[in-house]
Amino acid sequence: MATQKSKLIVVSGIQPSGRLHIGNYVGAVQNWLRLQNKGYRCLFFIADYHSITGDYDSAEKREQVMNLAIDLLALGINPKKCTFFVQSHVPEHTELCWIFNTVTPVSFLERMTQFKDKAGQQDKNINMGLFDYPVLQAADILLYKGELIPVGVDQVQHVELTRDVGRFFNNKYDTYFPETKAMLTDVPKLRSITDPLKKMSKSLGEKSYVALTDSPEEIANKLKRAVTEATGIISMTEEELEHAMQTHADSHADDEKLRGMAGVWNLLAMLKIFGSEDEADRIFAAQPIRYGDLKMLVAQRIAEHFAEFRKNRAILAKNPEKVRRILAAGAKKAQKIAKATMKDVRKTIGVR
Ligand code: TRP
Repeated sequence: MATQKSKLIVVSGIQPSGRLHIGNYVGAVQNWLRLQNKGYRCLFFIADYHSITGDYDSAEKREQVMNLAIDLLALGINPKKCTFFVQSHVPEHTELCWIFNTVTPVSFLERMTQFKDKAGQQDKNINMGLFDYPVLQAADILLYKGELIPVGVDQVQHVELTRDVGRFFNNKYDTYFPETKAMLTDVPKLRSITDPLKKMSKSLGEKSYVALTDSPEEIANKLKRAVTEATGIISMTEEELEHAMQTHADSHADDEKLRGMAGVWNLLAMLKIFGSEDEADRIFAAQPIRYGDLKMLVAQRIAEHFAEFRKNRAILAKNPEKVRRILAAGAKKAQKIAKATMKDVRKTIGVR
């Protein structure tokens, strides 16, 4: 059983946009590292073709890809233990996407909640790529016959669509693609520092998140301004908070209290992750909490946690050639698999 498990194929991607923050780390990268180090057959890539479906500046994209590659390598993504590459370096992704387009019902894509959300956010740029985004994701995964897909909850629907697309292909032609399964992280979502009712995200502005590259001083400055409630007493369990947040849309009077409570639980969550459970338990037991002290403790633990990362990153950033070589070697390794898949697929569907 254990040996079989260690051979499962893991595929996951991350979009290059701004800087990685601790929410991305906890939600995705930490899981990648665990799987990589447990001996799964991992393919991790930077999803640059997905990222151009949003509004973006072409002058910045190359640097964003480079920065993300440096971040991931500095965090411990190890090209000796996984296949690490950039999506656009392996054009087979888009070729398989086209073929998958022809087995995917439009009605399935119309149901995708991410499409509906993003179409609302960028209403001047509702392009075909945005609509087709999940089919490209299915191609990313099935090109390598991915079985286990570590993602956040927001991507589960896309992984389910991947399974549907694989089934449609298998039914129309011949059984070829495996069943894909999402693997969820059990860590809590980190919330925005400035508005803890929302999840931590780049779109809420610099001060709302801790970037992995922030210096210890920057981390402390951001956390000093973290929103909390005022009494030092935790009057709600995490479950009560979650529940209240789901229903709070129609009771705005409670917003401020809820926001403060969410902020406190967010600090404790960070302490658990970057410090220890014990430390968080001790703070909880010693109410009323002095939030000034708690914030500084959390800042210190985050800074410590990423000290080695900052060191690794500085070294890699001075050697972009080395990073480019790693990515080129990764693309070559990925493409070997991709080419074999496409040869089979073309033959199956009757082209070339
Ligand atoms: N859509 C994913 C996200 O935004 C990124 C992604 C692209 C991905 N292709 C993938 C994740 C394939 C897992 C597998 O988070």
